[in-house]
Amino acid sequence: MTDNNVKPTTNDAGIPVSSDEHSLTVGPDGPILLHDHYLIEQMAQFNRERIPERQPHAKGGGGFGHFQVTHDVSAYTKAAVFQPGTKTDVLMRFSTVAGERGSPDTWRDPRGFAVKFYTSQGNYDMVGNNTPVFFIRDPMKFQHFIRSQKRRADTNLRDHDMQWDFWSLSPESAHQVTWLMGDRGI
Ligand code: HEM
Repeated sequence: MTDNNVKPTTNDAGIPVSSDEHSLTVGPDGPILLHDHYLIEQMAQFNRERIPERQPHAKGGGGFGHFQVTHDVSAYTKAAVFQPGTKTDVLMRFSTVAGERGSPDTWRDPRGFAVKFYTSQGNYDMVGNNTPVFFIRDPMKFQHFIRSQKRRADTNLRDHDMQWDFWSLSPESAHQVTWLMGDRGI
């Protein structure tokens, strides 16, 4: 702001700017100048300030808690996080899979959970779904699979032909499709 009593706004380098309301012009109401670098910085920043949503599991919610080892499983692991009595801070996130941010929780979909253990030996991440099997085995198919389940880029709509094309052409998905189309899917 140009008001003398107000701390000036600065650009990204911390340099005070003369105005964040008026661009630099050739005279009063004249053409705007491309060398108004603060204006260019504003627009460049604006175009990039949204964080793109993640592909699968875009929608989720979670909470912090802790994980405490109550039994002795040290015969199976040396990891500090699993030694008897060890208490570790965790973050758990529950998610849907195909829906975008803002999509309803009620859509037919598997559900995911993710746990981040903040262990004394570094962070340990674990993911799971609420089904015992998965659609595919080879991760090379994952990108095609997720795209086939999400909205189309051209219509912004889901496409059942696309979904079933993927499933019918990837017969290894059949078992998980039965889980998805059963009660577990909703
Ligand atoms: C073909 C194998 C798979 C591939 C390539 C794959 C890939 C991915 C990718 C790219 C993400 C998004 C990560 C991000 O944007 O932060 C993700 C998230 C996730 N995946 Fe998978 N996935 C696979 C199989 C599985 C399986 C089998 C499960 C569960 C049994 C699973 C559970 C999850 C969960 C819960 C999340 C969300 C994590 C969170 O909340 O932060 N995925 N996966």
